[in-house]
Amino acid sequence: MPDSKKTFQLDDREVPFREGQTIFDAAMAAGIFIPHLCHNPDFEPHSSCRLCTVIVNGRPFASCTQPAVAGQMVQSNTPELRDMRRMLTQMLFVEGNHNCPGCIKSGHCRLQATAYELGIPDNHYQQFFPLREVDASHPGIILDRDRCILCGLCVRISRSVDKKNVFAMTGRGIDTTIVVDSPSGLLVDSTVSVDDQAVLNCPVGALMLKRMAFDVPFGDRTYDQALYSEDSVARFQATEANRHG
Ligand code: SF4
Ligand code: FES
Repeated sequence: MPDSKKTFQLDDREVPFREGQTIFDAAMAAGIFIPHLCHNPDFEPHSSCRLCTVIVNGRPFASCTQPAVAGQMVQSNTPELRDMRRMLTQMLFVEGNHNCPGCIKSGHCRLQATAYELGIPDNHYQQFFPLREVDASHPGIILDRDRCILCGLCVRISRSVDKKNVFAMTGRGIDTTIVVDSPSGLLVDSTVSVDDQAVLNCPVGALMLKRMAFDVPFGDRTYDQALYSEDSVARFQATEANRHG
């Protein structure tokens, strides 16, 4: 349970926190959604996408890694922060090939759900149309690099949870891409398996299990049923309740 004596100000709310908790975790525990993409609260944060940026005592910080401190003044819902989150999300859309109506992850995808949550009507920027390889070599898993948002979750989860180091990021700027640790560079020759958490927790349609695309029909999917904010706060609070009682 949060130490009721320790609180910080988040927009117009007084938010309690436990020692060592991040601003993001304390906010979500209090039912306040902070947009996020490279962070999955079930795993260690990394602070690369900057979508969760908040203003702390006048300076910007990634809330998923920034510790909560008693008495600090945090803003998360200013027009400037909302504009910045929209811009970062639009840049992710044009930097890859994210054609939601034709994507089998539609309705389960956190990039798409973030765009809806932030009220993004279009991509705004010019599309890059990158050419990236699809790796369909594995019998049970597909890696579609066109849809990768380079959040790094698969890299971190494969290393720290699956204990395998299957994935890594290579290249710079527009040429940054996910590579696979096998002599051929193909998934089929790697140690990846269909129950790897790295595969199961890709937030978009880049790493997916084969033959599972339509196990849940369109219309019944996660973000067909609830906003990303509602779903992620509910999941976060359920996990917190399991961990801390
Ligand atoms: Fe993130 Fe998925 Fe790309 Fe891995 S493959 S970096 S989990 S978007
Ligand atoms: Fe915090 Fe990406 S969610 S930086």
